[in-house]
Formats: sequence, C-alpha cells, structure tokens
Amino acid sequence: MTAQPSARALVPFVSVDHMMRLVHRIGLEEMLVGLADAIEADFRRWEHFDKTPRVASHSADGVIELMPASDGAVYGFKYVNGHPRNAREGLQTVAAFGLLADVGTGYPVLLSEMTLLTALRTAATSALAARHLAPAGARTMAMIGNGAQSEFQALAMKAVCGVEEVKLYDVDPAATDKCARNLAGTGLQVVACRSAAEAIEGAQILTTCTADKQHATILTDNMVGAGVHINAIGGDCPGKTEVAREVLLRSDIFVEYAPQTRIEGEIQQLPPRHPVTELWQVIVGQAKGRTSDRQITLFDGVGFAIEDFSALRFVRDRIRGTGLYAEVDLLADPDDPRDLFGMLLRAAPGA
Ligand SMILES: NC(=O)c1ccc[n+]([C@@H]2O[C@H](COP(=O)([O-])OP(=O)(O)OC[C@H]3O[C@@H](n4cnc5c(N)ncnc54)[C@H](O)[C@@H]3O)[C@@H](O)[C@H]2O)c1
Repeated sequence: MTAQPSARALVPFVSVDHMMRLVHRIGLEEMLVGLADAIEADFRRWEHFDKTPRVASHSADGVIELMPASDGAVYGFKYVNGHPRNAREGLQTVAAFGLLADVGTGYPVLLSEMTLLTALRTAATSALAARHLAPAGARTMAMIGNGAQSEFQALAMKAVCGVEEVKLYDVDPAATDKCARNLAGTGLQVVACRSAAEAIEGAQILTTCTADKQHATILTDNMVGAGVHINAIGGDCPGKTEVAREVLLRSDIFVEYAPQTRIEGEIQQLPPRHPVTELWQVIVGQAKGRTSDRQITLFDGVGFAIEDFSALRFVRDRIRGTGLYAEVDLLADPDDPRDLFGMLLRAAPGA
C-alpha cells in the first residue's frame, strides 16, 4: 500500500475554478477594494520587505518573469509572462501562478493560479495610486486598450475611487465591443470611442493598458491637458512604452519600486536620475502626491512583487473555511527526514 502524505506535505492549491468562485463569493468590487487595502497596508510597511527587481528572461516573442518578495515571516513569488502576440493564437498575453512559503521552514503554504489574481491586483494597485493622486472628484476615465485587464481596471476605479463613466478605445473594435458588453450592468456608464483622443476628452483619469512589444505612443503631447491623472499600465518591459517622452517631462511621476521601473517603465525613456516618487512614500506621508489642480500626475505602473505577495496573503486568509481549494501533495516529506530514498523505495510497485 502506498503511504499517505503527511499533513505538512499537503499544500492548499487554488485553481482557476476555485479563484473564480472565491471572487464571486466575496463580490468582485468588494474584492478589488479588499486587495487595494491589503496592498496599501503592505506599502505602509515597505521598509520591512526584502525587495528586488523581478528576474526577467526576454525573447523575441515576449518575457517570462519571476517576482519574489518577503516580509521576513512569509516569502512569496509569482511566475508571469508577457507575450503580446499570444492573443492572435487564442492565448492569454499574461498568464501567472504563484506561491507563498513559511520563512521559518521554507515549506510552501499556498499555491495559486494568478492569471485572474494578477488582473485583480493590477487593477487594485492602479486604483490605489489614483486614490492618492487623481484630482478630487474624478468621475470619468478613459480606458485605452480594451483587452484582458481592461474591465478589471474600470471596475477598480469605480469601486475604490468612485469613477462613474468609462470611455473605451482600442485599435481593435471587437475588443471595445467585448469590454462594453462585459461592463454593461456594472453601474458604470460606458462610452465606446473611435479614437484615443475622443476617449480622453473630458476624462480626469487616463488609463493606457495596451500590449505591443515596442515603443508605442498611445498618449502624445497634444492629447494630455493640465490636471489629469495618467495610469500607464501597459509599458512594463524594456523597449515597451506607451506615453510620449514630452508628456513624461510635464508630469510628476510616481512608481512602485524605482530600481525596477527605471528598467521597465515609461521612465526608461528618461535619464536614470530623473526624479520620481515611490507610491509608498505618498501613502505614509513622506512625500507629496497631488499638490495642484493643474498638475499632471502619472503612475508608471509595471507591477511589483509586493502587490502579488499582498494578493496571495489576501487569498490565503479568505479561503479559510470555504473549501475553495484542493490539497496538493507538493512536498516529499518522509517520516525520517534523512530517508528520502527509503520513501521512494517503499513506493515501488509491489513493495
Ligand atoms: N503594470 C502591470 O502591473 C501589468 C499587469 C498586467 C498586464 N500588464 C500589461 O498590460 C498590457 C495589457 O495586458 P492585457 O492582458 O490586457 O493584454 P491584451 O492583449 O488582452 O489586450 C491589449 C489590448 O491592447 C490593444 N492595443 C494594442 N495596441 C493598441 C493601440 N496602439 N491603441 C489602442 N489599443 C491598442 C489590443 O488590440 C488589445 O485589445 C500588456 O502590455 C501587459 O503586459 C501590466
């Protein structure tokens, strides 16, 4: 008879199906608010974290990245890709999974899908930045790029910042139709636009979330007026940006973790010492956010490991008692820790 794995060998695994059921059980908007609050709480203790720019492996088609972070008690990492051409093959541009481990033993304590969770946490982070930087009373946002992330972005701005209207634009009208259809019934007023300039008209929050492995210019200098907040999400790799350099030079720029954003973000277009503020500094009151009605604030979001860490911890806390996970026999854990080989022998057929 094959020995049963011990309890310590079993790691809770949240599948895509379980994640979807968890989101619906909590409520999508409630979850976006909960994630924004969880990320904000971790950004408040920024200095406790062991931080590093993500480890990126680039190819002609895209990038594969590992994103680790630890607060000394819990360690987390995410595996994530970014392949702009995947959509044409019927595949996700971004797919991910992640893990939390106990720093004391190094044993994993959670394994989870993170494709959905990345969309949720990216949107929650965007909304968190907007909560601190967008003009007071911002009610209209432009959403340029209507792909996989877009509905999450719009709903997080509604749930966290009180946005009421979203103006959509994508080079592919089918993407805009899909986004408008998915947002119907959410309480957001949705307007489909025929150009980026039309989408931006009258909006106080401008989100760019396009996928292209090149220096694209989604926002040109003449498109951006005074007083807006730009939420630039799609430029997140060397050689992949969305906002014209002239717009950056007119903006006060906020980032997650400057050493990573200087490599990957919009600011790769600027000299390495160009002043930027890390969002956590605004959150703890160490730096100023928006200081005037005419100021352009720009959140150069690339996605940072602490956001994934916060999101995984949120999921670990919220699955307790729900049954919305499976126990996976992930770790070899023999009764005698030195007898790993014996455990293998005892599992031989007929042994
Ligand atoms: N900052 C972060 O934390 C973070 C997290 C996840 C994804 N991303 C990035 O966000 C981007 C979007 O991701 P996704 O999963 O929604 O991708 P997606 O491929 O599903 O959607 C991208 C959309 O952008 C549109 N598009 C491309 N060029 C355009 C242009 N010039 N003008 C208007 N629309 C254009 C495409 O038609 C497509 O509908 C990617 O670049 C991804 O790497 C960033």
